[in-house]
Amino acid sequence: MSFDKLHKEAEGVLLEEAGRISKQFEITSEKLHELTHYFIDQMDVGLNAAATREERGLPMCPSYVTGTPNGTETGTFLAAELGGTNFRVYSVKLNGDHTYEIEQLKSKIPEELLDEPTLSSADLFSYMARRTKVFMHKYHPEVFEKGYGKSLKLGFTFSYPVDQNSLNSGTLLRWTKGFNIKDAVGSDVVQLYQDQLDDLGLDMINIVALTNDTIGTFLSLCYSSGSPESIKKGEISQPVIGAIFGTGTNGCYMEKVTNIGKLSEETREKLINEGKEEMCINTEWGSFDNDLKYLPTTKYDIDIDQKFSNNPGYHLFEKRVAGMFLGEILRNVLVDLHDRHLILNQFRTHDQLPHRLKTPFELSSDVMARIEIDDSSTLRETELSFLQRLRLPTTFSERKAIQMIVRAISRRSAYLAAVPMAAILIKTGVLNKRYHGEVEIGCHGAIFEFYPGFRTMLREGLALTPIGSDGERKIHLRLTKNSSGVGSALCALVA
Ligand code: BGC
Repeated sequence: MSFDKLHKEAEGVLLEEAGRISKQFEITSEKLHELTHYFIDQMDVGLNAAATREERGLPMCPSYVTGTPNGTETGTFLAAELGGTNFRVYSVKLNGDHTYEIEQLKSKIPEELLDEPTLSSADLFSYMARRTKVFMHKYHPEVFEKGYGKSLKLGFTFSYPVDQNSLNSGTLLRWTKGFNIKDAVGSDVVQLYQDQLDDLGLDMINIVALTNDTIGTFLSLCYSSGSPESIKKGEISQPVIGAIFGTGTNGCYMEKVTNIGKLSEETREKLINEGKEEMCINTEWGSFDNDLKYLPTTKYDIDIDQKFSNNPGYHLFEKRVAGMFLGEILRNVLVDLHDRHLILNQFRTHDQLPHRLKTPFELSSDVMARIEIDDSSTLRETELSFLQRLRLPTTFSERKAIQMIVRAISRRSAYLAAVPMAAILIKTGVLNKRYHGEVEIGCHGAIFEFYPGFRTMLREGLALTPIGSDGERKIHLRLTKNSSGVGSALCALVA
């Protein structure tokens, strides 16, 4: 057989295999229905189960946030946020007219603090205190001169699952995303941070509220919604869900206190007597279906969870949806295709593959984003991305195969992302309660904001869930900016 013919045949086999793999990522409407019903079921289980570090299913963490802002709130507050990629410190001035002014210091979390089992919580929290000090020197140097007592209120957004017993304390249930600092698990994260602030002479800062980024997103949308400007733009002001699609994924909504069986009877009664009938629940939906009853699962998902993630068996929904994992899924597929001699055959053995392709979590979702929208006839963007980011030359048919797989991975992520939204809308019944049933969902995170086509695919997914296209049309997905800063400030205000 001629070399040319052999080559053509190999190309055909690769594209066929890429098609077969992509098929494994497809999600039907039936699947979305099944998942949505199971999600509703798991919400009820979670609302009534005790929060433990070993729990399965939906954690449904009470947040002790019992009201929503209406945009008239005023005051200046400090806020800090530990996410999966960045640590941010803010000061936020709420103007009371749905607007705010914000100063911010964003620091990329140093690699050595991530996924390093020998570290102690003091290493992480002292880093955070040092960055807080830098922020204070830059934006509020006056506090070092005058006697401020303990008067500077700080709201702390901590984007990991915690068991909260009050607005200003909570113990870490487990790390997700990149961290792996063992002694922090089971500790009160507010205390850990406050101790380090005090040690650095920042004892004028008083951490008065602990919250999750998803709650921050929700509250900040409540604060900015309904402004004269947004009403002029035809926006409505009925936020129902705060959602994150970034490094990780999560969502929250307001639940009736009477439905939160995991709160003690005493707490529920006290809240109701105080007129607090609802509480924001941090669903921690990243942990949906950890038992893998219904979640679609490929062998790549299993490998990522078991071999490469630092929390095997947990957050399995997040591992199919969130930004941290999308590139990793692609990397696993590519390595598998290479091991089977179907792609990148210039590297004869696994060891010869470029470092970036061999190293877990080195292929990031922004490489996928460039490939996703590459509509050039030679897939030039794809070629450049692989050259620049992985030092990998590719053939045209390899690029076609890669793009097919990228698009399958991202579509699965967006369709799955529709499940918790549809489930919460059904459980709360809001689509039928309100005028025209229109609802707002606040969304935050790089995947939602920047991944090409994610929002469109998410909407397609919503229409395929039990809410159907009628329900999907009533949903307004709002991108929230600065949501953790504003959200924590709002929490600090009510503390
Ligand atoms: C965490 C959540 C967080 C989400 C988005 C997840 O890994 O468990 O607490 O809200 O990431 O940052």
